Amino acid sequence: MKTIQFTILFCIFMFIHKVNCKAQVNIIPYPASVDIMHGAFKLDKSTSIVLIDDILNINQLEVEQFNLWILQHYGFKLNQTNNLKDNQNIIQIRSEKTETEKYELNIQGNKIAIKASGEGLKNAFESLKQLMHANKKENVFSIPACFIIDSAGFQWRGMHLDVSRHFYDKAFVKKYIDYISMYKMNVFHWHLTDDQGWRIEIKKHPKLTEIGAWRKGSMIGHYNQHQFDTLRYGGFYTQDDIKEIVAYAKLKHVTIVPEIEMPGHAMAALSAYPQLACTSGPFEVEKQWGVFDDVFCPKPETFQFLEDVLTEVMALFPGEYIHVGGDECPKERWKNCSNCQNLIKKEALKDEHELQSYFIQRIEKFLNKNNKKLIGWDEILEGGLAQNAAVMSWRGTEGGIAAAKQNHFVVMTPGTHCYFDHYQGHPTMEPLAIGGFTPLEKVYNFNPIPSELNALESKYILGAQANVWTEYINTSKEVEYFAIPRMAALAEVLWTPIENKNLTRFLNNIQSHFSYLDLYQTNYAPSIYNINYEIKKDSLSNQFNLKLSNVLFDNNAQMPGDSIVLLKDNNKIEFYKSPIVLNKSFQLNAQYQRNNKLLGKACPIVFSFNKATGKNISFKEAPSKFYNKGNLTDGQKAHFPRINNEWLAWSGQNMEASLNLNDASFIESIDLGFLKNEQDWIYLPSQVEIFISLDNIHFVKVDTQPSISEINGKYNYHYAVNKLKAQYINITATCAPNIATGKPGEGESAWLFVDEIEIK
Ligand code: ACM
Ligand code: ZN
Repeated sequence: MKTIQFTILFCIFMFIHKVNCKAQVNIIPYPASVDIMHGAFKLDKSTSIVLIDDILNINQLEVEQFNLWILQHYGFKLNQTNNLKDNQNIIQIRSEKTETEKYELNIQGNKIAIKASGEGLKNAFESLKQLMHANKKENVFSIPACFIIDSAGFQWRGMHLDVSRHFYDKAFVKKYIDYISMYKMNVFHWHLTDDQGWRIEIKKHPKLTEIGAWRKGSMIGHYNQHQFDTLRYGGFYTQDDIKEIVAYAKLKHVTIVPEIEMPGHAMAALSAYPQLACTSGPFEVEKQWGVFDDVFCPKPETFQFLEDVLTEVMALFPGEYIHVGGDECPKERWKNCSNCQNLIKKEALKDEHELQSYFIQRIEKFLNKNNKKLIGWDEILEGGLAQNAAVMSWRGTEGGIAAAKQNHFVVMTPGTHCYFDHYQGHPTMEPLAIGGFTPLEKVYNFNPIPSELNALESKYILGAQANVWTEYINTSKEVEYFAIPRMAALAEVLWTPIENKNLTRFLNNIQSHFSYLDLYQTNYAPSIYNINYEIKKDSLSNQFNLKLSNVLFDNNAQMPGDSIVLLKDNNKIEFYKSPIVLNKSFQLNAQYQRNNKLLGKACPIVFSFNKATGKNISFKEAPSKFYNKGNLTDGQKAHFPRINNEWLAWSGQNMEASLNLNDASFIESIDLGFLKNEQDWIYLPSQVEIFISLDNIHFVKVDTQPSISEINGKYNYHYAVNKLKAQYINITATCAPNIATGKPGEGESAWLFVDEIEIK
């Protein structure tokens, strides 16, 4: 009787368990269609592979690569046979007539049945590899039964890498291609030339790499610190290297789109061949990041040179597209060059923008004549798009929208979502980056099809791509950190049908996926575990609230048992409950934890409660609309590196602030924060005057000199006030005069950047 009862209970338990706890399919990008079934396939050393209909022998190659992967990571190989024993576990691969990215993967009983050819089979194996790893015990893989029918949402699923600002060796370029292929992406946009280094050997013009591949130093720290080292830096890929990488990419079903920048970003080329510029030079390979006035001059010898270069490039890269840059080309030199001005007249062009358009159109004709297509950054729209050109939309999606409406193909790569050189967490907890804020979930939520396009126009959106610019990415390990896991999120944007996307599932999968990445010693960014914080004034209570968030905590994507904890001196003192009212100074760390284990990095939070905190402040002249997000009385000092929305700024205008402390009290000190950064046209005030009052009518000037201290360009002006009683404080910070000759932005208005006002 007991046994029967137990059996019934057990069956009920199993039934509930199975219905509620279907096996997880941890595949990134998530497949187009997944039907999870009961049971599991045991893959081990005795599993055999059976290949059917592989007439052209393309699937044999994929099987060999799959077997190599098992050997590398688990130390055995699967037998390939057609003589099967009864009940033997097999992976049966039936070739499709035509090769596409699509595949079917049916895992059931003692058979894994795959239908695919070439790229599709590679994709099936990528899915299977992830399933194997997620379901491994010793060297047995218990893969949940499921039926997957899978294909790509978009045809251009790209990743870019800038090898000019920093150079990465051949082995890493191959590893980068491995990642692209692993995530079922298919385009590698290789940014081979820029101001800071020419990285591709061109036999006809050897000085491009003899001279153009080497610079005499690099920027260190952030651009706005304006510091350099003096180390010779460089490197390039020989044509043999390139052939090897192109062959490798073919094996991985990745097409390489090489980029040869023109007419701008040409300093490395001009340092080797100054005769191609508007002025005589000499030029140097740039040590500094940025945009430079010296660019290719559109004269006959320049076009001859570029055609020579492109001829060698076209011979090396079999893909249909050649990227010619086209972005950020200043027109200063062209305006003052007789060659350029004569050409404008001769071709009846309106201005220098039309000259840029003429430049690109001329190069396009050459590429088209050689059966290649031109793609360029969205500036190629200015002055008229070349006839067949495709556009890479980077300054938002507007360029892409305009191009699609003109029936041109588009790859979306807007800075807001697709620039993986941006921060992916709070800048205080991330390696130095150029700026921006593009966390994983923002990438995941990107939709390459803008709502402005109708169905017909949307067909011109080929897909999207993430760009990895490398000014701040010195090593290949750091490339991995900036690119991964955001690459996984973009892969799902581009592969998985939009109706199948699910951020919670993705966040769950990405966490187990981290252990898959460990197989490859990937230096992925675990930034999703980090805490973001916000201090906001509650308009009803007039008090400041601290709100902590974490994408896992907020999305319920976590395993059970997670929380945000507050720590003081590494000791947990409290669980976070939203929100925390801040009514005294506060210096703590916040960290995400799951099942008692702290994950990610501790987030330091400093709140300095003083007489000014939360008090009303008004300004005679409103701050610039570009820098009006900061709050001078929120108890928060601005961070380094600079986060713009922590500052208030005025251009060519004084800050005249009036502060009401609500009641009169004795004041001991007043602290003001200012920024100095001549590179960014930001100067300290030429004068600061403070007046205090009890009645808002009679004001007394504070006549002490400030003691001034500086950290990372942030200046603190500390005024010791000899216990004066006051309720009203007026502060005038006089903006510096127009920028002096010889300084960046000479003759322009200076900027005045102001941070926290603290009154004690
Ligand atoms: C770009 O980021 N200048 C294309
Ligand atoms: Zn010129």
